[in-house]
Amino acid sequence: MIKKKRVQKEKYIKYKSLDQLEDIEKKLFTIAFDKMENAYAPYSNFHVGSTLLLEDGTIVSGSNQENASYGLSMCAERVALFNAGANYPDIPVKKLVVVTKNYKKADKKNNTHENCILAPCGACRQVIMEYENRFNSDIEIFLMDSKGSIYKFETVKQLLPFAFGGYFLNYNQ
Ligand code: THU
Repeated sequence: MIKKKRVQKEKYIKYKSLDQLEDIEKKLFTIAFDKMENAYAPYSNFHVGSTLLLEDGTIVSGSNQENASYGLSMCAERVALFNAGANYPDIPVKKLVVVTKNYKKADKKNNTHENCILAPCGACRQVIMEYENRFNSDIEIFLMDSKGSIYKFETVKQLLPFAFGGYFLNYNQ
């Protein structure tokens, strides 16, 4: 008989609004919305902002940067993470916030998830995972939906199960 293992559901905490977050987290959202205005998104017109809190209290942000050669475009989350990696290479990232102003209403037919939450793409999840592994330190991820509710994930592992990581490679042997 084939044994089926139950697939674990993502774990997150849902907050009704920004008011329920810690002050520093509210500040990260404020800055993310502000920096979203620096998005260069003439092709998609989809503006995204992302903010990171580093372990020493430094705040780093990013916005999506597109290119006429579409595939070269870069998501806000990766712009922020690479900014942190380039400027603060020894400081772990503790929190990540991502926002847009283009929240859509949830629509079952279009296969949107609960209340249309803006969530990082697969490539960004992999890059977030790299920063967790690099510093052996979880990154809390804060997402927002079309109604302004917040979804807090303790680690990107909740968003990227069975992830690929550097431990599969041989370079340390
Ligand atoms: N985008 C982000 O910056 N972050 C996300 O989480 C989702 C998508 C950007 C990439 C592209 O510039 C535009 O949004 C449309 O996909």
